[in-house]
Amino acid sequence: MKKWYAVIGDPVSHSKSPAMHEAWFGESGIDASYIPVHVPAGTVGDAVASLRRLGASGWNVTVPHKQAIIPYLDEVDPLAAEMQAVNTVKVLPDGRLLGMNTDGPGFVRSLEERIRQSRRDEPVLIIGAGGAANGIALAMKQAGYGKIAVCNRTVEKAEALCSRIGGEALSLDEAAERLGEFGTLIQTTPVGMSTATGGLPISIGNLDPGAVVADIVYSPLHTDFLKAAMKNGNEIVDGLGMFIWQGALAFNEWTGLMPDTLGTRQRLIAEME
Ligand code: ATR
Repeated sequence: MKKWYAVIGDPVSHSKSPAMHEAWFGESGIDASYIPVHVPAGTVGDAVASLRRLGASGWNVTVPHKQAIIPYLDEVDPLAAEMQAVNTVKVLPDGRLLGMNTDGPGFVRSLEERIRQSRRDEPVLIIGAGGAANGIALAMKQAGYGKIAVCNRTVEKAEALCSRIGGEALSLDEAAERLGEFGTLIQTTPVGMSTATGGLPISIGNLDPGAVVADIVYSPLHTDFLKAAMKNGNEIVDGLGMFIWQGALAFNEWTGLMPDTLGTRQRLIAEME
């Protein structure tokens, strides 16, 4: 029987995941499809029951269900459990549902494929303390980045995250003041997304031109924050890599294969132009 996969979320119709995964199935010679499924908040339990009954082989989970889906799964791996967020569900051979999270690890892969040398010993600054920042902070720590600071508009949320990962919490002003200390900056807020107002989440007057500056926003590909960093001479990492790698790691969990991430990047950039 033909296998099928899905992404569940609300909104979901604009997701680039179906086209990306279907291209990967095609390139890998796997006869499978991947469909977007609109699942409104509060109905994820029904959606999981339906996906299970209808024989989906796996699915991705996006906003607003990453946490809400957890009680409906049979098992959650340690990283997803620590994050309290699932973005990938794998149907095990015995039919049980395993929840995983490839968002944070996907970010680390996208960062490390773009930078010229390992910067794991240098201090990292994460801007923002929401769901995305939590996943990235845990994955960075697991990958061996020892010194992590988190700055956020609401400092209490940065403190809560830092108490979990052993990092230093800063206000946006403190972080701007001390920006020169950091070898890697990771922008995780929606500031800069096309739908929100542009601008910078933090002023970058003290940024070391030798630092790597990453943004998880990928539309636009170059946010005002990345443009300012480029102008300052910094090496930048745009958010498209995280999107591709979270998908590639999910695809790998489902199929055992690793897709062509570089070709995917070129294709997505061509589509965005
Ligand atoms: P996600 O899951 O994408 O991380 P989220 O959990 O809603 O989304 O978190 C959004 C993050 O962006 C938060 O850290 C938020 O700061 P607050 O905790 O103070 O709300 C941050 N953020 C959103 N809009 C912002 C803005 N205009 N300036 C600075 N930070 C902003």
